[in-house]
Amino acid sequence: MHTKILAIGGSLRENSSTQHILNNLQTWTPHPVEFIVYTGLAELPHFNDNPNPPASILVWREQLAEAHAVLICTPEYAFGVPGSLKNALDWTVSSGDFVDKPVAVVTASTVGDKAHASLLLTLSAISAKLSEETSLLIPFIRSKIDAAGNIKDQETAKALQTVLHALIKSVATL
Ligand SMILES: Cc1cc2nc3c(=O)[nH]c(=O)nc-3n(C[C@H](O)[C@H](O)[C@H](O)COP(=O)(O)O)c2cc1C
Repeated sequence: MHTKILAIGGSLRENSSTQHILNNLQTWTPHPVEFIVYTGLAELPHFNDNPNPPASILVWREQLAEAHAVLICTPEYAFGVPGSLKNALDWTVSSGDFVDKPVAVVTASTVGDKAHASLLLTLSAISAKLSEETSLLIPFIRSKIDAAGNIKDQETAKALQTVLHALIKSVATL
């Protein structure tokens, strides 16, 4: 079965830098690995412990279950992880969808260090499989992407490709 990566962007903004990064990563993904961008974040209701969650939550959990690895790319908002992303992760605490799942974390922001650390902490709380090779903080992101959404900073492009390949490798060695 082909390796499937589920990619999650932490920003719902139009022309989002982090969504541009996901698009770039998708084009760099080697065949036959599948890089699927999750598009349901805006539809998820706020977390509660309803034993019969709505369909959007079931789809979110199903897509996570089907993925061999997850890649999260997010900005920092107000010194933290964007609420919509944190909310999506909160829904997985009891269902355990991230347990032992290889997860790459790319925080791309103006500074971003606080959200990066916070997200890694949250992911460790839900027992995701993290590693230094699949963790990347990209500061000053807006200066590193051109108007068409391409990564114009070569060092950043290379670092992203390294994370992608390390994530794929971590699935192969599971
Ligand atoms: C509501 C809001 C809050 C922000 N707060 C921070 C912050 O705390 N730290 C930071 O490094 N950048 C912050 N920024 C700047 C973002 O890092 C920058 O706009 C980035 O491009 C946003 O990612 P996006 O384009 O994917 O939405 C903030 C931007 C917005 C819109």
